Amino acid sequence: MASPHSATRRRITVLGTGYLGTAHAACLADLGFEVLGVDVSPARIEALTRGELPFYEPGLEPLLQAGLASGRLSFSTSYAAAAAFGDVHFVCVGTPQREGAYAADLSQLTACIDALGPLLDRPCLVTGKSTVPVGTAAMLAGRLAALVPTADTCELAWNPEFLREGHAVQDTLRPDRIVAGVQSGRGEAILREVYADPIAAGRPFLATDLATAELVKVAANAFLATKISFINAMAEVCEAAHADVMTLSEALGHDPRIGRAALRPGLGFGGGCLPKDIRAFMARAEELGVEPAVSFLREVDGINMRRRARMVDLARELAGGSFEGRTVGVLGVAFKPDSDDIRDSPALDVAATIHGLGASVSVYDPAAMSHARRAHPELAFACSATEAVTGADVTLLLTEWQEFRDADPEKLGEAVARRNIVDGRNALDAARWRAAGWHCRALGRPLPDRRGAKGRPAGAA
Ligand code: UDX
Repeated sequence: MASPHSATRRRITVLGTGYLGTAHAACLADLGFEVLGVDVSPARIEALTRGELPFYEPGLEPLLQAGLASGRLSFSTSYAAAAAFGDVHFVCVGTPQREGAYAADLSQLTACIDALGPLLDRPCLVTGKSTVPVGTAAMLAGRLAALVPTADTCELAWNPEFLREGHAVQDTLRPDRIVAGVQSGRGEAILREVYADPIAAGRPFLATDLATAELVKVAANAFLATKISFINAMAEVCEAAHADVMTLSEALGHDPRIGRAALRPGLGFGGGCLPKDIRAFMARAEELGVEPAVSFLREVDGINMRRRARMVDLARELAGGSFEGRTVGVLGVAFKPDSDDIRDSPALDVAATIHGLGASVSVYDPAAMSHARRAHPELAFACSATEAVTGADVTLLLTEWQEFRDADPEKLGEAVARRNIVDGRNALDAARWRAAGWHCRALGRPLPDRRGAKGRPAGAA
């Protein structure tokens, strides 16, 4: 909602219009700021200028269109335009995993600072939001100081972003906390102005140094990844001990010291953040000489990857011991529901692995089909869940879209060759599926009572 005092507000640029940058730009425009989004991709800028979101994110496209219609939000490929426009420049470019290494690739960040720095001829605050190894902000501050014509009026700050894909709008407008790594009271005051609305709504604002701000983000993602892998490690134990990880997770989650969030067992974490962030953290800790402090993250990563292997094993078991000549229907390829993101997607990884092992694999996802097709053209792409499972010996639920949770087991049962399903996300009501004659397996849950199940491992007597 635009505030009445918008005309007096500082002007904002957002450099890099991926998930993070586009959500940040549209939300700040919604809060009443004048915002210019800048990206090096002309195609992306053209799409955004037309009001089209180049990715799937619930609730963001209407906000983008409202921002454009209000005149407060615009887009450009020009860094000169950004330098002339902005009082606060938010840097939201990607920091992916470096090719062939654990460390983060900071080339987009340094390129952004190198392009912007020499053009900054008026007072401004350059504020990094990208997730970076601790120490990056100090390095960039030095780089910026050497580039800007007006070193005394241009400052660097770090303000990590904690948004989750699929919840980008609410996480940006109503953040759990705002962390501001600043070098001066002026930097803090500017960020307090930018976040005046969420601060007034009671959202905590923590001002700190640059290194702590960078580390908060990395530590938060390391903690979330650890929590997910912890419950998935318990799933491994449950499988061996014939215990039920879903009940275990629920019982643990009732302890307020533990909490239920990030405690959903299943195929594990993927996406553009958690996997690469814990690896970059390990690489940075090694550089800092404190590798043992985070060496547990290697195990966190290992547990996570073992879930994918376990999923393939369960699917093979239901396929009768081999994928050769079998048909596998896959529901979901995005790394999580309400997203079209397939970066390091456990679902797509499992689908591609099973195809590589000789199965004919047909996939369906409500949003991620075009990305998945580009990444894995060898898979078959169906137009619906029913089409994906038609003729399947085994069906796999790999991303827990609501559409799949709500699927009618009877209707899907009519399409498959055999009623065998592995629930990779513990998202289905197994009793309902079994009542419809499905042989239903899930990660971390005891073997079902097979009495009455019409599905059988393919090839079983
Ligand atoms: C994550 C962090 O949550 C966010 O704060 C940070 O800014 C970016 O990284 P995101 O990658 O969007 O956000 O997804 P998140 O919802 O955290 O899920 C990450 C992965 O973990 C997904 O693959 C999800 O399926 C998986 N997950 C999550 C679980 O397997 N179990 C859980 O209990 C929670």
